[in-house]
Amino acid sequence: MKRLDKILSEAGAASRRELKDAIRAGRVTVDGAVIVDPAKQFDEAEAQICLDGKPVMLCRTVILMLNKPVGYLTATEDATEKTVMELIPEQYRRLGVKPVGRLDKETEGLLLFTNDGDLTHRLISPKSEVWKTYYAEHEGTATPEDVELFRDGLTLRDGSVCRSAELTPLGNDSSLIRVCEGKYHQVRRMMASRGMHVTYLRRIGEGNLMLGDLPLGEIREVSPEEL
Ligand code: URA
Repeated sequence: MKRLDKILSEAGAASRRELKDAIRAGRVTVDGAVIVDPAKQFDEAEAQICLDGKPVMLCRTVILMLNKPVGYLTATEDATEKTVMELIPEQYRRLGVKPVGRLDKETEGLLLFTNDGDLTHRLISPKSEVWKTYYAEHEGTATPEDVELFRDGLTLRDGSVCRSAELTPLGNDSSLIRVCEGKYHQVRRMMASRGMHVTYLRRIGEGNLMLGDLPLGEIREVSPEEL
């Protein structure tokens, strides 16, 4: 059994303060009856709770897509730097969402968040082979030989060997790169190993999800079906 205002705030419905006011104002029903006492206790597994007539999804799983701007660390907290959590509205932070994998501070683009630990594990496990697509601007021009080496599994300057990846030159100084693993600074290091210093990097796809026209710094919810 748990207090009504606590159940609702854990569900991310609003802040505890706002929820107390909403309950006192008669906007919350439990099993069809208006409850005006925020401290009244209910079994969250059994109770049918509505706020303003709409059922509240308790402990719901959330998946979010952020178009990450440059300058934010992929971390849940940091003593000195801005983190991607600052771009996540409080209603989702309250639900316990965390970044899935990471993008470098200098990289833009698609970053997923969820409060489902199993899903995070499945998305970042190398066994799952989730393909990620990047748009890169770089010095130098990608050649057919580079394309072949990416496909065969590139050896980085530190000797580590990458899985087969796709390199699609788009012109003299930009390319699409698709990889199915997440080594540290992987795309930048793959390109550098072929003498192409990356000057701009944006992740535009992960699995079958595409960033599309989501504005920079904005988030949207992703349904489990989309994944
Ligand atoms: N590869 C990189 O070099 N940076 C990223 O942020 C992601 C992949």
